[in-house]
Amino acid sequence: MSDQSTNAMVELIKVSKTYRPNIRALEDVSISIRSGEMVFITGRSGAGKTTFLKLLCKMELPTKGLVEIDGLDIRKMQGKRLSLLRQQIGVAYQDFKLLTDRTVAENISIAMEVSYLKQQIVRKRVRALLEELDLSDKHSSMTGDLSRGEQQRVALARAVANSPKLILVDEPTGNLDATSTGLVMDMLAALNNSGATILIATHDHTIYRDVDHRLLELRSGQMHQLRDGVMQ
Ligand SMILES: Nc1ncnc2c1ncn2[C@@H]1O[C@H](COP(=O)(O)OP(=O)(O)OP(=O)(O)O)[C@@H](O)[C@H]1O
Ligand SMILES: [Mg+2]
Repeated sequence: MSDQSTNAMVELIKVSKTYRPNIRALEDVSISIRSGEMVFITGRSGAGKTTFLKLLCKMELPTKGLVEIDGLDIRKMQGKRLSLLRQQIGVAYQDFKLLTDRTVAENISIAMEVSYLKQQIVRKRVRALLEELDLSDKHSSMTGDLSRGEQQRVALARAVANSPKLILVDEPTGNLDATSTGLVMDMLAALNNSGATILIATHDHTIYRDVDHRLLELRSGQMHQLRDGVMQ
């Protein structure tokens, strides 16, 4: 491995993803994302943004090519090693994937169960996350009863609850007004400042317009770099 890639958190080498029967979602994508970077990935609907994020947490396997997370070939990760890796990756899905018959607090706490934290610490962390995202009054509501914008913020809180080193967020502000968008982006910026690597797939140019992080665009299955990033 070259020196440059030793501190890569995400490394894709000539990755293609074809869905049956013949949908070429990604073609020959090679990209390296350094540990501690915050990167925005844009592109038209259907360009492959969600597919790209799914490859990084092994929700999908590449048809061709190599995907490495923190220097480890994700294809070779199975069983306990894969679970350990997944504990280090927080994902806020585009379709949220919340347990709709559980409360907001339960949904977020579940993400922390694997780390054997004391209940008191879990409860404190849940309250702090809800406060940060202006959701304190929804603590004990069923997530199925929430608005889409509220559900979106719960999905983010769950993704970051365990302080993962890699955070993947798919359209985090699609249902949010400007104020809530600000809260979400402030939270992600703070996590990035504390060292997390963050990848954000988004159509929302307002969230990447005024920051100096790297900006990538997926177009016809290929990754283009629109803007270089400045590491904080
Ligand atoms: N499970 C699947 N089976 C077949 N085709 C799929 C599957 N998942 C995605 N696709 C197709 O792959 C392409 C890329 O989809 P993807 O969801 O990655 O796009 P996207 O950039 O996230 O779009 P959006 O902005 O609408 O969320 C699309 O043509 C989509 O229809
Ligand atoms: Mg998508």
